[in-house]
Amino acid sequence: MKQRADLTFKHNRNAGRHGWLRLTPAYSVKLVTGILAGLHPKQCVIEPFSGTGTTPVVAAEQGHECDAFDINPFLIWLAEAKARNYSAEERAELSNAAREIARNVPGQHRENQWLPPISTIDRWWSASHLKTLAAIYAGIGKQASGPVADLLKIAFCRILIDWSNAAFNHQSMSFKDPASHRRSFDDEPAILEDFVSWSDRISADVAVPLPGRARFLHSDSRTLDGARNRAYTALITSPPYPNRMSYVRELRPYMYWLGFLSDGRAAGELDWQAIGGTWGCATSRVGTWTPNGLFERTHPIHKTLSQIARRSELLANYVHKYFEDMIGHFDALVPTLADGAQVFYVVGNSKFYDTTLAVEELYAELMKRAGLRHVAIHKIRKRNSKKELYEFVVAGARGTARRRPPGLSRHLYRG
Ligand SMILES: C[S@@+](CC[C@H](N)C(=O)[O-])C[C@H]1O[C@@H](n2cnc3c(N)ncnc32)[C@H](O)[C@@H]1O
Repeated sequence: MKQRADLTFKHNRNAGRHGWLRLTPAYSVKLVTGILAGLHPKQCVIEPFSGTGTTPVVAAEQGHECDAFDINPFLIWLAEAKARNYSAEERAELSNAAREIARNVPGQHRENQWLPPISTIDRWWSASHLKTLAAIYAGIGKQASGPVADLLKIAFCRILIDWSNAAFNHQSMSFKDPASHRRSFDDEPAILEDFVSWSDRISADVAVPLPGRARFLHSDSRTLDGARNRAYTALITSPPYPNRMSYVRELRPYMYWLGFLSDGRAAGELDWQAIGGTWGCATSRVGTWTPNGLFERTHPIHKTLSQIARRSELLANYVHKYFEDMIGHFDALVPTLADGAQVFYVVGNSKFYDTTLAVEELYAELMKRAGLRHVAIHKIRKRNSKKELYEFVVAGARGTARRRPPGLSRHLYRG
């Protein structure tokens, strides 16, 4: 089994709107396109864990309708801006505003320029880079509003990561060796040039309008507030994996600059709301969390949990809560699915110490338990972390049809 970079975020870098900002756990446009190709035209899609919006944007690109949900307000904002249609006037305004902002930056530097309250900001950016970034950000506020300002902020997010000391050579973000990023010359002209060229690229990417329609709801996938009853004919998603990755932690540079976060406490609170979150105060909350008894006492998950608990009670609690949360999600989901709806969950298994957690099998079981049928597990790729780790599509359908729907066939995922 291969690693199949074509099924990961790496495939999206040059795919128009999909390549604007990187989120390592995002999946590929190709995977979503392949799944949709196996379904009839004019699907009404639900995406309960929308992230950077790969599913809603692909669905809208292909003329489908999609309702997308996420707990993270920054991701809802970003995906909404990615899926919107922009007029020729707005595109021209974007390019002009970017140039005007860049022209004004050298005269805009001020001692008391606003900086985001992100902790140890000097690990992220050098003092001179910060000065330039802060002046660009202040310029966006003066120069534009509405949809054009959203696109300028996305160009800004792009350069703030490209000019940071963050390294992405692992699943989670880390910092580069300081020696590798120290520069001896004034980078301001190059940063401004990057900002203008990213604004131009974004303007070119939105030139073709999307024929479909995507709607975004900042809402919890355990309640799916705002979802329509029995409306959705397909679900394509990748939920958080039980691997202790924190989306808030990964996204914090954007979230602090754009005002979606103002302190560490709020960051931990948001991660606590997220399924699988354990960053900051979310960790101590997981430690004191008590199960709601959603798995019967004889369920095999208890054996796995006690193996993990021998090494870490906290991790055992984490895994237990993760799956109870997913039960809550499936319960909220099923009433929103139309008869015959087909669902596709892209998930990865996990390993804690020497215990491998068969996440895909638990998903299959929880889906059957929630009333879905024809549930099947397709192994699609090896992950590049530990050798036992793979990614799977767990697929199923709602309804009473006796035959497996054709969209669930395994050939869709072949390379
Ligand atoms: C693996 S990512 C989705 C990536 C997405 N497929 C993409 O291509 O960008 C999982 C997402 O689930 C969201 N999430 C976590 N807990 C949630 C909850 N309780 N309700 C809704 N969304 C949640 C996270 O914020 C994250 O964006």
